Amino acid sequence: MSTRKATAVSCSNIAFIKYWGNRDQIERLPANDSLSMNLAALTTTTTVEFDRALTADVVMIGGRAITGPGRDRVSHVLDRVRAWRGLAAYARVDSRNNFPSGAGLASSASAFAALALAASAAAGLQLDEVQLSRLARFGSGSACRSVPGGYVEWTAGEDDRSSYAQSIAPADYWDLHDVIALIDLSHKSIGSTQGHALADTSPLQAARVATVPDRLVRARQAILNRDFAALTEVVEQDSLMMHAVMITSSPPLLYWQPGTLAVLHAVTEWRAAGLPCCATIDAGPNVHVICPAEAAPEVERRVRAVAGVRQVLVAAPGGPATLINA
Ligand code: DP6
Repeated sequence: MSTRKATAVSCSNIAFIKYWGNRDQIERLPANDSLSMNLAALTTTTTVEFDRALTADVVMIGGRAITGPGRDRVSHVLDRVRAWRGLAAYARVDSRNNFPSGAGLASSASAFAALALAASAAAGLQLDEVQLSRLARFGSGSACRSVPGGYVEWTAGEDDRSSYAQSIAPADYWDLHDVIALIDLSHKSIGSTQGHALADTSPLQAARVATVPDRLVRARQAILNRDFAALTEVVEQDSLMMHAVMITSSPPLLYWQPGTLAVLHAVTEWRAAGLPCCATIDAGPNVHVICPAEAAPEVERRVRAVAGVRQVLVAAPGGPATLINA
């Protein structure tokens, strides 16, 4: 057979306990464990086709061919699949997000989870979830958390074999929603990969990493107990700890914009007035407002009215990466 093809779809995810900094930048062995919720409404669909007629990997994102470091990053994951399978053929990769990429919405998470699944299936490899999570991690750290479904914990581990993510509760265990306030839709200037490399330049990174185990236990328990008040406290603390590291790195990474702060302050006020919600921010200016599903319509209405918010997306908990018939 000269061509083999498979299509996979994967959700993005939002971290409640953040991954920031790597012990091994190439293998993406993180400085700390992390925990996230998959986002059902934010998906990447990727088709991979190995074809002996190709003279190089061809990578299309949103219908456009990409070259340079972006394509190389995809090729590195394909190389690992080729090595495992003893395959020489290059591949055609067609990847589409249903949300804006590069705006701090972790498009690399859904993209590399979908790539890992589609590429391994197209190559005829039958990987289990742990192996798939490890393969996705090699492409993008947070992508390893988009392989399993629902609420997911990534154990940092010590090497490639021990660093992968597993579900701690399925998507229907707790109906939280993520109301995402998009503050800026343009491509961010310093992406996560460069950011991770700066983490150790902050004197606060060691303190952040040392205190993750305590927050992780609290976040896991809050999810398992469906305790929103407990989750609120730990989610906001962890996000601010990461941004404290970012802001105090050399050079500093200040992702926040006026609209970011406006949403942060508004969330604190709404919560004080009885609306259950909490805020978390990734490597970008957008604010993820987490709330119980019942509160989501009211939270969404209020977020839309905050100055500086350009667009709002709402996501329920999402399932695992899956193969589909294209
Ligand atoms: C702030 O997974 O995007 O979103 O491994 O270089 O692809 P790479 O980085 P990435 O980093 C995510 C950082 C974060 C926090 C998180 O999702 O845990």
